[in-house]
Amino acid sequence: MHEKTPWTRARPRLLVPPFMLGIVIYIFKVPLPLNFWRATSVLNQSYNNMTTEIGSYFVAYPHQYTFRLDEPIRCQQESPFLVLMIPVAIHNREARDIIRNTWGKETTVLGKVVSHFFLLGVSREGDKLLDEEVLQESRRHKDILQSSFVDSYNNLTIKTMVMFEWLSSHCPNTSYAMKVDSDIFLNVQKLVDMLLKAPQHRYLTGHVVRYAAVIRDQTSKWFLPVSAFPEPTYPPYAQGLGYVFSLDLPQKILEASLHVKAIYIEDVYVGLCLRHIGIALTDPPHSGLFMEMMPLLTSSCYWTSVITTIPGSSQQLLDVWGMYETQTQSGC
Ligand SMILES: *[C@@H]1O[C@H](CO)[C@@H](O)[C@H](O)[C@H]1NC(C)=O
Ligand SMILES: *[C@@H]1O[C@H](CO)[C@@H](O)[C@H](O)[C@H]1NC(C)=O
Ligand SMILES: *[C@@H]1O[C@H](CO)[C@@H](O)[C@H](O)[C@H]1NC(C)=O
Ligand SMILES: *[C@@H]1O[C@H](CO)[C@@H](O)[C@H](O)[C@H]1NC(C)=O
Repeated sequence: MHEKTPWTRARPRLLVPPFMLGIVIYIFKVPLPLNFWRATSVLNQSYNNMTTEIGSYFVAYPHQYTFRLDEPIRCQQESPFLVLMIPVAIHNREARDIIRNTWGKETTVLGKVVSHFFLLGVSREGDKLLDEEVLQESRRHKDILQSSFVDSYNNLTIKTMVMFEWLSSHCPNTSYAMKVDSDIFLNVQKLVDMLLKAPQHRYLTGHVVRYAAVIRDQTSKWFLPVSAFPEPTYPPYAQGLGYVFSLDLPQKILEASLHVKAIYIEDVYVGLCLRHIGIALTDPPHSGLFMEMMPLLTSSCYWTSVITTIPGSSQQLLDVWGMYETQTQSGC
């Protein structure tokens, strides 16, 4: 958590009393029975534990991150109808290459220009060799945006917010963008087809989740303690694997982020920002478009009928892409 961040939400007050009590007792040397001291020190310890815990459920945003690798004019020059923004781990060159050879190569779809960019942070170790490789890759493909925050799972919210910053300042003539994970099958044709009939403002869609219970199981990857997020359910949000939005939203979400404390679960955080500005999520035209799982059995035109599915790995994406192309050619 960054010190200078202008949080408007107070930290939970509950935590303060034991700590203050400790100080008061220390300063005034109040004589107290021994078991009281034991109790205080337990409270004190749990206070300290909770403070550290709370620290790790929030990320350092807003903050001035800068781009180390950028494509400052491409979006403005190409004026794409749709921009695909792909967060990917810095070392995952394989996933980037597979995307470049599958759905990333779809640059004109139904007469509309589509561009893609990969979003990277920096490696924690400051790996010089890796930096050099990424620089070469960026020169070759001109599709890498690398920001200065440490690239890690728990920093994905930062990546998403930096994505909104970039879109709002670099794509003045773009109608829609999609945040899409690197291991996803994406049917760009079906996506553009949907967008051509979609609202042009205040629009965000994908796999919309409503009334999801906040996960209080400490062993879960998405655990949030009551102290960090007291509400029992999340507001509606679109699952992070792939959501699409109109380009008036990035600026609005950034404004909201000044008032909504940034939790580490990125898709939920976008939902919190949308709630703050009073924008409702839009359901996709029908429920079979943004799929979470690979089906056990697929019909003969399955891959041309969905917009997203999780194939499981980048390698499987290659196989799925092959099936998709076959289905397209067979007139699905
Ligand atoms: C509370 O914790 C601090 C450091 O974490 C320690 O120095 C202090 O002695 C503790 N106070 C009590 C009353 O246990
Ligand atoms: C605080 O954390 C320490 C180390 O993780 C643990 O041993 C201790 O039991 C915790 N204390 C409380 C009150 O939860
Ligand atoms: C997130 O990024 C910030 C800024 O670079 C860094 O200080 C922090 O250690 C990172 N957190 C994690 C969990 O990687
Ligand atoms: C925006 O895009 C449209 C269509 O691609 C183009 O006609 C127009 O000139 C562009 N405007 C700017 C300011 O680039």
